[in-house]
Amino acid sequence: MKILVTGAAGFIGYHTVNRLLNDGHSVVGIDNLCDPASLTLKNARLSLLGIDPAAVADATPQQSTIGDFRFIKLDILDREAMTELCRQGAFDCIVHLAALAGTKPSQADPVGFFDVNTIGTQNMLEAARQGEVRHFFFSSSYVVHGSHAQSPLKENDDVDTPMSMYAASKRAGELLCYTYASAYKIPVTVFRFFTAYGQWGRPDSKPMRIAHAIAAGEPITLLNDGYLVRDFTYVDDIIDGMAMALSTPPHNAHGAPYALYNIGRSKPVPMLSFIQSIEAAMGKAAIIERDPASPLTKGESVEMYADTGKLESELAYSPVWDYEEAAPMFGRWFIENYNVTFNM
Ligand SMILES: NC(=O)c1ccc[n+]([C@@H]2O[C@H](COP(=O)([O-])OP(=O)(O)OC[C@H]3O[C@@H](n4cnc5c(N)ncnc54)[C@H](O)[C@@H]3O)[C@@H](O)[C@H]2O)c1
Repeated sequence: MKILVTGAAGFIGYHTVNRLLNDGHSVVGIDNLCDPASLTLKNARLSLLGIDPAAVADATPQQSTIGDFRFIKLDILDREAMTELCRQGAFDCIVHLAALAGTKPSQADPVGFFDVNTIGTQNMLEAARQGEVRHFFFSSSYVVHGSHAQSPLKENDDVDTPMSMYAASKRAGELLCYTYASAYKIPVTVFRFFTAYGQWGRPDSKPMRIAHAIAAGEPITLLNDGYLVRDFTYVDDIIDGMAMALSTPPHNAHGAPYALYNIGRSKPVPMLSFIQSIEAAMGKAAIIERDPASPLTKGESVEMYADTGKLESELAYSPVWDYEEAAPMFGRWFIENYNVTFNM
């Protein structure tokens, strides 16, 4: 297939492109390389994909040295450019990952988050419509569930009380996806990701912040006196699930070719156990500060993990990575690569 990946220099985008190339697909990746603080990491990912970061120029395609991959520095907010790209590209599928991510940053920049995550998503859906793309994949997030949601979180839970602009912008993206599937019969698959971690992770994600704090000897504050349960999903499981979804576009059900799935490990992990696995791999103890405050104050619940039964039964999703093996792998990668790249 010929596939367009947005957010290709991002954490999940990098792993997605890698997998699609290994599976023999032809891939075009776009990214606007925003946020100067994470540019070194994005450039490192592009280098691994055979792109010379020093030669990247606005709107100029660059051919990879390692496979059938072209990278173009483009902004999804440029609606005309997106439409033109999809009209000319003859893509079978769009994997739309480009976004601004994170609850806390979205509180500081609500307009920016709405623009990129909601308007940007509509730009990509519209480009898909005009380019007659046969399958659109959208990355949503478990944050669409409000703080009072009861785990395990299910696809049909009420998600109409978003607690942050990040959550609202992702929920709006889901609704736009449904509308394009319903009104224009574009098959759309939506995944709600539950905290992904792994090599070349996003610096502001919880696992990366934990590893960073351990390396730097900085304290890690845990609300609810440290008792928190989360669903940490190793990136390889996410990419496997995504590959299955891409090979199985949804059929027309209830008037729209639309399917929405949770993707997580679906094994609740106490936050302290997860931290212990990383500190053991890094050979350094974490400094834990227990705060009795409720996570509800941050728009989160004590326990947040996925019910992935729908993905398992409909797409044969079968995650294999438990945190006991994957978190130490991540900790060792952090020491060998991130510490080196960023001179910590
Ligand atoms: N990583 C997780 O645990 C997680 C959890 C839930 C949802 N998600 C969603 O998955 C997707 C990928 O997440 P990630 O962790 O790889 O994030 P990331 O920040 O590493 O990647 C996103 C990429 O999008 C690019 N981008 C941002 N604005 C853009 C724009 N206007 N035009 C073009 N490119 C733009 C960024 O430069 C970045 O490289 C996002 O949609 C995110 O909301 C991720």
